[in-house]
This record gives sequence, structure tokens and C-alpha cells, in this order.
Amino acid sequence: MGRIAFYIEPAQILIEAKAGETVQEALLRHKIDIGFSCGGVGTCTTCLVKVVSDLNLLPERNELELERAAERGLALNERLSCQIYPHVNLKIEIDGPRESDVHDQRRGRKLSK
Ligand code: FES
Repeated sequence: MGRIAFYIEPAQILIEAKAGETVQEALLRHKIDIGFSCGGVGTCTTCLVKVVSDLNLLPERNELELERAAERGLALNERLSCQIYPHVNLKIEIDGPRESDVHDQRRGRKLSK
């Protein structure tokens, strides 16, 4: 499988995930700190992202995600980035980096809408 592209709002950047990477792993590899306190094991929910793409393009929630979603009352488009292994290009929204932060880290990768 090829690389998966993520368009990230509101920072307006595009990054790629390697096959077999979670969304969180891809973000961290690109030095985009979305914050997480459980180490990516699906217990803290601090890695939450909002999926802007068609939700039908995402894998279904796994058992851990289903538990967290029920506990926290997560909306259908609120997903744990540490639990998503995407297989198609996605558009996601994160609260983390501001455009200026990301541009500094990803020189030359900032995209316009
Ligand atoms: S990093 Fe804790 S739930 Fe994803």
C-alpha cells in the first residue's frame, strides 16, 4: 500500500503517513505535537482528531475506541488518532498546531486551500 495523505485543518498543511502507521504516528513523525498522555494505547483521548472526510472512508472504531467514545460521548467524527490506521487519504482537524507553528516545522510544505 502506498502512502496516505492527510490534509490538516486549521493549519492547512499536507503530510503523508507510511503504510501501517496510525494517524498519530504520522503526525508525530512530522513533528506535529497533538498531545497524548497514554503513549498511544487508547486510554487518554488526548490524541483526539476531528475527521472532516467522509466517515465511510475510515476503518470502524476498534474495541478501545468504542469504549472511549461511549465514556466521553464522542461524536462520530471524533476519533482517536492513535487507533486509526487509515487506508485512504483523509482530511482531519486538530486543535494543536497553529499555522505558523507548523510552517516552521514543515518548511515548504504549507499548502493553500
Ligand atoms: S494517545 Fe491516548 S488515547 Fe490516543
